[in-house]
Amino acid sequence: MADNKDNISTRSVHGGEDRKLPQRSLTYPIFQTSTYYFKDTAELKGYMDGDIDREEYGRYGNYTVKVAEGKLAALEGSQACALFSSGMTATTFTLLGMLSQGQHIVMTSDSYRRTRQFCLTYLKKFGIEVSIVPPGDFDAMESAITKNTKIIFSESPTNPYLNVLDLKKLAGIGKKHRVKTIIDATFATPYNQKPVEFGIDLVIHSATKYLGGHNDLLAGAVLGKAPLVDAIREVRGVMGGILDSNSAYLLIRGLKTFALRMERQNATAQAVAEFLESHPKVTKVHYPGLKSHPHHDIAVEQMKGFGGVVSFEVDGGLDAGSRLVDAVRIPFIAPSLGGVESLIEQPSLMSFYELSTEERLAVGIKDNLVRFAVGIEDVSDIIDDLKQALEKV
Ligand SMILES: Cc1ncc(COP(=O)(O)O)c(C=O)c1O
Repeated sequence: MADNKDNISTRSVHGGEDRKLPQRSLTYPIFQTSTYYFKDTAELKGYMDGDIDREEYGRYGNYTVKVAEGKLAALEGSQACALFSSGMTATTFTLLGMLSQGQHIVMTSDSYRRTRQFCLTYLKKFGIEVSIVPPGDFDAMESAITKNTKIIFSESPTNPYLNVLDLKKLAGIGKKHRVKTIIDATFATPYNQKPVEFGIDLVIHSATKYLGGHNDLLAGAVLGKAPLVDAIREVRGVMGGILDSNSAYLLIRGLKTFALRMERQNATAQAVAEFLESHPKVTKVHYPGLKSHPHHDIAVEQMKGFGGVVSFEVDGGLDAGSRLVDAVRIPFIAPSLGGVESLIEQPSLMSFYELSTEERLAVGIKDNLVRFAVGIEDVSDIIDDLKQALEKV
């Protein structure tokens, strides 16, 4: 298949799939097995010697998972992909596999809270130092690099403020200091942005979100050059955490409509962001597709669309946000994003609930912040719904 930017719909449907499907089934089956048998000792030896390419045991590999990995690699334009049981498994196993005691990681502050928690709590426990720098502050990033630094890790766009990093610049800093760069690109997806094209070493996705797309599975993906991804796959083989075959099937199925969903979610979020920006009861909207966003220019340069998450601040505090969230009729109050159903949440009452207002502010989370993850419902219905709910703020 020609690798041009415009065939993402074709890759969503056919990428990673062999045309010779078992028993002429049109969909690839779920391999519901924990192990694989060998015909005889000669086959076993051939496999052990690396002459026969096949699966051996379910913790190391599964054919349904392999098809999903192939499809994601085709979408991302990367050599290899390893799938995990969740986005967090993908992130934590990648970091555990790449880092050793005494080494150091630089990460950006505006990121999924559990990733920061893992680095600050668990990596530190194993003697790995962590420096946190603001997203977009490349001077701070370079100054934080020491002789022990092995990884720079960031999201782009970030959660929940949708900050967008200059990926070429980031990759350049990594190469200059011989440090591997990792981007959690969950909020962008390969429809909107392909970090490997900018020289980023590894891309991570919570495939739970847009890639699965239906709020019905948990999955995580690591993508990049084969030697790096193979080393992370080895960690998975030792520690477990491979995606199960049923979820892999759902992921393959969800990915068939990936390009269609992304096109719709990009367009809806842009319209919602523009509507919110013009509304008197909204004091600030964080969406890279808006000219008012501090990273709009770099977002336009490196992204095809800006994703389905719009964060905004309502006029008032925590209760004003709650009045809005309680008044909307279409979105569910739930964590997560990227699925066909719209979801809404107040970060102060969800991910950051156990922190005080002051502690939340220290990590940049304002009490009047609302995060809206658009689904694929009609844009006019979503906007009408927000309009009536904002009257109750
Ligand atoms: C940006 C980002 N990365 C990683 C994760 C973790 O993914 P999962 O929930 O699939 O473990 C999330 C989850 O919300 C996320 O938003």
